[in-house]
Amino acid sequence: MSNKKVFNAVVTGVGMYVPDTILDNAYFEKIVDTSDEWIRTRTGIRERRILKDVKEGATSFLATKAAEDILKTTNTSPEEIDAIIVATVTPDMFFPATACLVQDNIGAKNAWGFDLSAACSGFLFAFQTGCSLIESGRYKKVMVIGADKMSSIVDYKDRNNCILFGDAAAGVLLEPSEDSSIGLQDSILRVDGSGREVLNMKGGGSLNPPTHETVDKNMHVIYQDGKAVYKVAVKGMADVSYEIMQKNNLTSDDVAYLVPHQANLRIIDATAERMGIDRNKVMINIDKFGNTTAATIPLCLVEYYRDGKIKKGDKLILAAFGAGFTWGSIYLVWSMD
Ligand code: UT7
Repeated sequence: MSNKKVFNAVVTGVGMYVPDTILDNAYFEKIVDTSDEWIRTRTGIRERRILKDVKEGATSFLATKAAEDILKTTNTSPEEIDAIIVATVTPDMFFPATACLVQDNIGAKNAWGFDLSAACSGFLFAFQTGCSLIESGRYKKVMVIGADKMSSIVDYKDRNNCILFGDAAAGVLLEPSEDSSIGLQDSILRVDGSGREVLNMKGGGSLNPPTHETVDKNMHVIYQDGKAVYKVAVKGMADVSYEIMQKNNLTSDDVAYLVPHQANLRIIDATAERMGIDRNKVMINIDKFGNTTAATIPLCLVEYYRDGKIKKGDKLILAAFGAGFTWGSIYLVWSMD
């Protein structure tokens, strides 16, 4: 990263929202050929939350709730927000961007913003982007929210995928600080589009615009070759997390927490093992929420912070892997008391 930056971007607020409706593993035993035992041992998931139907709202509803939580808990008025970045692969619609809907819902009348599509790495990519806006010196309050209504693109007849995903939103408020020892310290972010065939949703875009045929062929739901993704996810997440520790002379003792994307407990464990990080220093809530795509990492941060488990000065390694492929790791020093 450049040494020329005037300001460091630090986290000054957090917020989250999960829907009330819980789908436990017993629910899936009733709708597909699966078992609580298989789901728990293969993924670590016990339950996930979903918005029941469209009447309950879409991704902008989830993101707005998280944004309102940030505003309320930081005592910030919406007019103060300079920019809103929403990381999502389930926008309410192709356009306008979900960020515009959130802006309107919260009354952030001085803000600009946009959506960022990087699947499960969305929050990391949006976080780095938001920090860059702060570091430029031009923006003082930037909201970065990861939000996904995965239930809108899950095929509930496909046992390989339907058990994995949940709906949620969570995010942070970023502000400048002259104290360079806190906030974003470093990031290693990557994309590799050659992974496009093993994890995607092919229908609905300009390649396969919606037609009766695309619907009949079930092209508007998640396709994942789980085994293929599993192998590269373990290697990708572990490699960049290890690399960022080496680059910043961090030992596993220095790291307060690994904050991994919550796709599979076995991937999380393998990443932690490669980094030499003890299980008790790994943020885990996949058991309660499943894979909420762009929301998993901020959801962990908010829960652990509010439970009093992270404190100012704690060194955190955030790590994710997702469709694209997209992956990366961020070294963040926590900045809130
Ligand atoms: O978040 C973005 C990136 N995504 C990921 O990181 C996900 C990466 N992949 C995974 O987490 C895992 O591959 C899964 C959890 C998706 C699947 O676990 P797995 O251990 O790789 O299982 P598998 O796909 O190799 O399937 C093993 C067996 C198969 O049966 P056969 O062919 O051995 O008879 C599946 O049909 O398990 C079967 N299976 C199930 N059985 C019961 C697949 N899904 C289920 C299910 N219940 N829900």
